[in-house]
Amino acid sequence: MAYFVKPAHRSAAVTAPIPRDESLPRVCVIGAGSSGITAVKSLHLAGIPFDCFEAGIAIGGNWVLDNPNGQSACYETLEINTSCPRMAFSDFPMPADYPPYARHDQVHAYFEAYAAHFGFREAITFDTTVTEVTPAARGRWRVRTRGPAGERTQEYDAVLVANGHHWDPRWPEPYPGTFTGEQIHAHDYRSGDQLEGRDVVVVGAGNSAMDIAVEGARRARSVTLSIRRGQWVMRKFLFGRASDQIALPGWMPWWVTRLRLRFGAVASGGLRRYGLPRPPHAPGQSHPVQSERIRAVIAAGRVQVRPGIERFDGDQVLFTDGSRVRADLVVWATGYRVSFPFLDPALVNPADNELPLWKRVVHPDLPGLFFIGLLQPVGAVMPLAEAQAAWVTEMLTGRYAAPADPEIRTQMVRDHERNKRRFYASPRHTMEVDFDHYLWDLSLERRAGRKRADAARDDRRAPDSAGLALADERSGARA
Ligand SMILES: Cc1cc2nc3c(=O)[nH]c(=O)nc-3n(C[C@H](O)[C@H](O)[C@H](O)COP(=O)(O)OP(=O)(O)OC[C@H]3O[C@@H](n4cnc5c(N)ncnc54)[C@H](O)[C@@H]3O)c2cc1C
Ligand SMILES: NC(=O)c1ccc[n+]([C@@H]2O[C@H](COP(=O)([O-])OP(=O)(O)OC[C@H]3O[C@@H](n4cnc5c(N)ncnc54)[C@H](OP(=O)(O)O)[C@@H]3O)[C@@H](O)[C@H]2O)c1
Repeated sequence: MAYFVKPAHRSAAVTAPIPRDESLPRVCVIGAGSSGITAVKSLHLAGIPFDCFEAGIAIGGNWVLDNPNGQSACYETLEINTSCPRMAFSDFPMPADYPPYARHDQVHAYFEAYAAHFGFREAITFDTTVTEVTPAARGRWRVRTRGPAGERTQEYDAVLVANGHHWDPRWPEPYPGTFTGEQIHAHDYRSGDQLEGRDVVVVGAGNSAMDIAVEGARRARSVTLSIRRGQWVMRKFLFGRASDQIALPGWMPWWVTRLRLRFGAVASGGLRRYGLPRPPHAPGQSHPVQSERIRAVIAAGRVQVRPGIERFDGDQVLFTDGSRVRADLVVWATGYRVSFPFLDPALVNPADNELPLWKRVVHPDLPGLFFIGLLQPVGAVMPLAEAQAAWVTEMLTGRYAAPADPEIRTQMVRDHERNKRRFYASPRHTMEVDFDHYLWDLSLERRAGRKRADAARDDRRAPDSAGLALADERSGARA
């Protein structure tokens, strides 16, 4: 079955305190965005002792407008681009009165309700930034934090990195010439007020560029959308329902998913008659771009489409087709860098956003360091982060045992290369996964690992057992 969270899936609220089992590994979670909170919930319910440090004063990360953490790219018109039942955590449906695609404030309220429902909000330490994570003796990790009480260093058996990967703006290499107007990155865009009455050039063809151009059509004096490579722009509704609800079970091969995406692209309507360039790749070979309104605002003449920028000349922006426009604001909707300021680049260096991980969670050379939500699904991040957190929890409690190290590395390289082949080469596609397939694949691995753990326990119970070490020792459990 494809992933679809219904009201009946809601778990009972957690109202009583859950005792922590101090014999279990001690864990640090970095960040309380949607990835961090689902990790915290999983650890909390399992009784694992943990700290969660959040740099800001709110949970929800990117979904908090004007988040004082300075890392949120949220803007006034932002809404989710996967429908609520396909974005909700598996045991906590979104409220029934939410629209098919919830607004950012509703998403934030949903995360707050999740924390209240599972009773873990008090366990998060706010206003505290993780500044350094370094390997320590006996396979542990040393974590340095800075907060109201000053600097602190503590050791943990495992660290769950959930610091988000859409907060470090990817500015382009400078184009030739000088521009006399203002330049901002989409990360710093908050509302149409910034576009009001101005001549705006929006650069990029991702979801940020579409949303900002559409709002600019209402507020700016003129909007030019500069697209260096065309994209298939899907509508958010097809045949009267949220388009992502035409979903397939995860065991289906990728070519069927691609067929579904091709169907979605064709059903969404042509691009060229709106002046949008035809993409040089097939639907399904790029991260999905969605907009319900972009065709209408182009058709109404409120947004002009141009190719890539060639150079600047004062207040003029010159494009590769020889055309030019006057502008006083350029919005670079050119994507994000994956960054871990608290990790030594000699340990983890995601240059050009490249960071192969086993199942996008485990770094085979760094036992005890886990990444949560560090992936770019064709679908929503939250349910995948939830499954990742549940998996890591099973490792930490000994309920799951990993396969042998060579098998992990083989799978990691195979999956990474396969995913890269599916999407055109770009820093925006280095972590792309198929939502339903990822969930299905991880559920198979978790089942296999539970069987391995059971077998290892049975062997140890046998009188002639040589005392097999649990395979998850390599994954962070205390030695
Ligand atoms: C404009 C925009 C729209 C998006 N829309 C969607 C969507 O519709 N659906 C979807 O699935 N995804 C969407 N995404 C992707 C987005 O990454 C996820 O929605 C989601 O925010 C990921 O959650 P996260 O917890 O991994 O990261 P974040 O939401 O970025 O949260 C990370 C948290 O970690 C904290 N933190 C970071 N560093 C530290 C540190 N050193 N110490 C302590 N705390 C730290 C931050 O303060 C923050 O609270 C969108 C992204 C953008 C930019
Ligand atoms: N919920 C929503 O509706 C919503 C809204 C906004 C964003 N998001 C999400 O946020 C994430 C980031 O999206 P994003 O749109 O900000 O970034 P993105 O998906 O990485 O897209 C970046 C765009 O900028 C272009 N680009 C990059 N460098 C360029 C350069 N030097 N010159 C010209 N163009 C350049 C890219 O072109 P190439 O393809 O040629 O590299 C691409 O079109 C995605 O996961 C997205 O789904 C969601």
